[in-house]
Amino acid sequence: MRLPKSVTLVEMGARDGLQNEAAVISTDDKVRFIDLLSQTGLRWIEATSFVSPKAIPQLSDAPEVFARIVKAPGVRYLVLVPNLKGYERAKAAGADAIAVFTASSEAFTKRNINMTIDESLETFRAVVRRAKDDGMWVRGYVSTAFGSPFGDTVTPQMVVDVSVKLMEMGCDELSIGDTIGVGVPSQVEELVPMLAKQIPLDRLAMHFHDTRGTALSNVYAALQQCIHIFDSSAGGLGGCPYAPGATGNVGTEDVLYLLHSMGIETGVDLAKVRAASRFIAAAVGHALTSKAFQAMEASDERAKAST
Ligand code: HMG
Ligand code: MG
Repeated sequence: MRLPKSVTLVEMGARDGLQNEAAVISTDDKVRFIDLLSQTGLRWIEATSFVSPKAIPQLSDAPEVFARIVKAPGVRYLVLVPNLKGYERAKAAGADAIAVFTASSEAFTKRNINMTIDESLETFRAVVRRAKDDGMWVRGYVSTAFGSPFGDTVTPQMVVDVSVKLMEMGCDELSIGDTIGVGVPSQVEELVPMLAKQIPLDRLAMHFHDTRGTALSNVYAALQQCIHIFDSSAGGLGGCPYAPGATGNVGTEDVLYLLHSMGIETGVDLAKVRAASRFIAAAVGHALTSKAFQAMEASDERAKAST
């Protein structure tokens, strides 16, 4: 079987993760969390989001967080941007890599960013043009690629159509999102080859949420389709407040365990990611969902108890 020899992970914990937390996480804790993640070998970290503070109050301290994190050499810090206002705020904060985001579901797009899909594409065309003029790197997200939280139909062709439009406007990379964690491997096997006909595989990432326990099997299905960029979240944090029922991204520890055990390189130190997760677990005030994280914690507890 042909699997990639190495995989790039894009860390979502500080953005997708913390945007969905009920507890107020202090700016100090966010900065410390990102600084810990920066020491793990991860080369891409989504740090925060310059969306409306009314839409996502949890990340309203984006400028402070972005200013205070220690920018480790070799690490790119992405920020989410919903419109030109967000772009100007991100640029003023010093960002050099942004992510724009739309979806294949009209109902979700309306609730998430108060735009139709077409309006969002117009908005992002202007944002991407400005970002490219400023020499920035741009990622595009296509959410609800495997199903909508509002029951409207999403087909693989709809995902491809939005994806192609985002690439045509100048995105450097696309991340295809299973926002509400409904996807299964057969859908991945159908969608990825359709996307790959139009978009180079090295510019395609997959972004799985683990709401129904299928995220890791979807990662494996995508690996078999030669996808080698995956989004994941330390400890399995994550979710979108505008997608009812959505829970965390596939855990970074779970993906690392799978990949490393299969001999696929990532350059990321699992123990250091776990340390970052442990730190943020105390701040969010609840148990983390990553199975590999839980297993390592339990194993340490057993070792401690037996000494
Ligand atoms: P709107 O209310 O239609 O926007 O929201 P508006 O232009 O009418 O502005 C309303 C107010 O917000 C105004 O302030 C604006 O100035 C302000 P007011 O005059 O009332 O005082 N405003 C802003 N402030 C700061 N930064 C900005 C900004 N924009 C407007 N950028 C809008 C439309 C898009 C702004 C809003 O709906 C929004 O911010 N939505 C973001 C929702 C979000 O972040 N969702 C989660 C991320 S997506 C996700 O998680 C999925 C993903 O992980 C992939 C996957 O899983 O599939 C990426
Ligand atoms: Mg997400």
